[in-house]
Amino acid sequence: MSVWAVLAAAGRGERLGSDRPKAFARLGGRPLLAESLERLEGSDWIDRIVIAAPPEWEEPCILVAEEIGAGKVGSVVTGGAARSESVRLALEDVPDDAAVVLVHDAARPLLPEEVIERVLAPLSEGWDGVVPGVPVSDTVKKVEQDRVVETLPRSELVAVQTPQAFVAPVLREALSGDVSGASDCSSLVEARGGRVKVVSGDRRLLKITDADDLAAVAILLERERQ
Ligand code: CTP
Ligand code: MG
Repeated sequence: MSVWAVLAAAGRGERLGSDRPKAFARLGGRPLLAESLERLEGSDWIDRIVIAAPPEWEEPCILVAEEIGAGKVGSVVTGGAARSESVRLALEDVPDDAAVVLVHDAARPLLPEEVIERVLAPLSEGWDGVVPGVPVSDTVKKVEQDRVVETLPRSELVAVQTPQAFVAPVLREALSGDVSGASDCSSLVEARGGRVKVVSGDRRLLKITDADDLAAVAILLERERQ
């Protein structure tokens, strides 16, 4: 069974506000992208990797892969306008005989091997997809403009992270229509009736959105390295 990883790194990082795409912001003395790529490369579960790069940053992505000796990187593709489009473009470089695709955001650099293992395992039990989730600590409300229209029951909610794992043909099918509005791959699989399981996520998979997140992840990384 071959497992391919798609690393979504093509975003602009507007909210981080750096002079370069977020994947090339500095984390622990390296481009952010290097951290998750190195972990995918080192994972016992991943066979090959495709990176979705920001337009005009394909070459620098290849250089990062070379610098860390990421020989599993099969190709680097130019990403699209939205995350799901970048994933779809990367999937075009995943061969038809791939059994499983694991999609991960470069914006979540601290990728634990245990989580990769946890999201892959249930695929052999008949699930179409598996996502890592963590409990939410804030109360989540639905709003229209500034008016609250609904308070969602917190005990029924999880915040979902990446890596997300899918049966390859199921993901391909889910990404074949209009995908521009989707904030994760799972939602597209769910919309087509796919069965998606939630497993325990990990707080270290904190997503870097703004400069404070980058600082927080840098501290976690420093702690890991000690
Ligand atoms: N992503 C992508 N292609 C896009 C947009 C996003 O591959 N067109 C990736 C990002 O590189 C990131 C992940 O999807 O790893 C999550 O996206 P997000 O955190 O929103 O990153 P950006 O889109 O880069 O940030 P911003 O929305 O602030 O511009
Ligand atoms: Mg974005």
